[in-house]
Amino acid sequence: MKRRDFLSGAASAVAAWFSRSAFAAGDDSMPMHDMSKMNGMASMSGMHDAMQGSELAPVDALPAGAPLASLRTLVNESRTPGEFRATLLAQPVARALVQGQRDTVFWQFDGGLAAAGKGDTSGPVVGPLIALREGDRVEIRVVNRLEQPTTMHWHGLPVPPDQDGNPSNPIPPGGEHVYRFTLPKGSAGTYWYHPHPHMQTAEQVFRGLAGPIVVRAADDPLAAWPERHLFVSDLKLAADASIAPNSMMDWMNGREGQFVLVNGAREPRIEVVRDERWRVWNACSARYLQLAFDDGRAFAQVGTDGGLLAAPRDGLTALVLAPGERAELIVRAGQGASQARWLATQYDRHKMAMSHGSLPPGPNVVLADVRFAPGADASRADASAADKSAALPASLRAIAPLGPARAQKSVGFSEAMDMHAMHQPGASTRAMPLGMKFMINGETYVPGRATLTSRRGDVENWTIANGTDMDHPFHLHGTQFQVLSREFDGRRIAEPYLAWRDTINVRPGEIVHIATVQHEAGDRMFHCHILEHEDLGMMGTLRVI
Ligand code: C2O
Ligand code: CU
Ligand code: CU
Repeated sequence: MKRRDFLSGAASAVAAWFSRSAFAAGDDSMPMHDMSKMNGMASMSGMHDAMQGSELAPVDALPAGAPLASLRTLVNESRTPGEFRATLLAQPVARALVQGQRDTVFWQFDGGLAAAGKGDTSGPVVGPLIALREGDRVEIRVVNRLEQPTTMHWHGLPVPPDQDGNPSNPIPPGGEHVYRFTLPKGSAGTYWYHPHPHMQTAEQVFRGLAGPIVVRAADDPLAAWPERHLFVSDLKLAADASIAPNSMMDWMNGREGQFVLVNGAREPRIEVVRDERWRVWNACSARYLQLAFDDGRAFAQVGTDGGLLAAPRDGLTALVLAPGERAELIVRAGQGASQARWLATQYDRHKMAMSHGSLPPGPNVVLADVRFAPGADASRADASAADKSAALPASLRAIAPLGPARAQKSVGFSEAMDMHAMHQPGASTRAMPLGMKFMINGETYVPGRATLTSRRGDVENWTIANGTDMDHPFHLHGTQFQVLSREFDGRRIAEPYLAWRDTINVRPGEIVHIATVQHEAGDRMFHCHILEHEDLGMMGTLRVI
């Protein structure tokens, strides 16, 4: 397999220059004959800005160490049991974020009952939590107060294709749309919502448009566990506290800002006095979260994207959440007071360098400071409740394997870099950069064109093959799938446990085998959940007939 397709042979000198200028600060050694190839480029620093982005706010520009903020909650306007009705506004909202700088303008989701004028700044920028129950009839009106089209996508939920915010169903600026769906039994799990407009998903999400959904079951075996919600997002702020635009490198590797936020804040403090159930969302555009505690303490995983596992996976010390993925964890208070930092530890996803080779992985990131104080809040009654919750049920629910398969599908990720086009004047100052192609089955996304066709109700086995040299998280709309096995270096390893997922990471050279079924006719998107790659065309349409 070729490392990368560099389509333009003439660009090698330029590419070599880029690899130096992009990663060695203040390189002014470029020979003049190379300089002439930059025709029209304003200056070295202008070029550097385009590649890496302009100057950023320092990492301590945002305060750390505040108690973890609770998420805002979307108010149910319906009084009828089994019905959820609400309004969500997508609108620009100014927040005083960095001291001594101007306000940061986010694009934010607000409940229709809250602060319709200026937006709700009483809680985190994260969209309000939508708390639903299996069986609920849901009706959510989305009002677009942005200056560009948007849609609302219910990531992971089994909603009808025409209610799922496909890019082909935009809400124009100033417009609104009512989304309607009913949640079936078995859909309890941890989901999220975010816009999905054609080629503008990345920007709308990195400016703040994303929020959590929890669907609960009447027979949840973990209902007694205290629940904590940790919505992890990424923020890239320019020195003047504005949200920085994407640089060329952001488009290529997916955007990673200098801040990783949990419920909208940097390194919050968490106090754990009893064993807790954590729901964790990776709502970052491109950042992988390898979750671990810095003292190596163990935790259990009890759920994936689509709800509970059949049985807990206990004794984990690390768990990778790719962009878009969620997990349910059990974090124990332990014996006696202690303290640990909750980290996203170094994970090598093989980010591209501008010429050849890969960038080294970034350093560990502190997500939160956790103090464990078992029984600290306890009256006697509470203490005995804590004792009870320490025993995790050995089985959580039944998950039947999907099958047998009636059809087979192949999805292949590939990429091509046209270095010549990438280095044209203005190549990266456009909304979308020139010269980068991220493809599925050899093609970039074309609106309305079916990449694959499936029959409603047919269980299918899909192979997702990553023919590129960096990780890509595969995501399929409208359903939850099961991973069957993973093939790497000629070895095929059966997935050791059953789980419902809608997003699965695929490493370079890996082939992931999944079983999946769609229950309704219509178009479903599937794509890489690095949002820049999705916008650049690493997306296809599954036409269900
Ligand atoms: Cu969360 Cu089509 O994506
Ligand atoms: Cu989705
Ligand atoms: Cu990707």
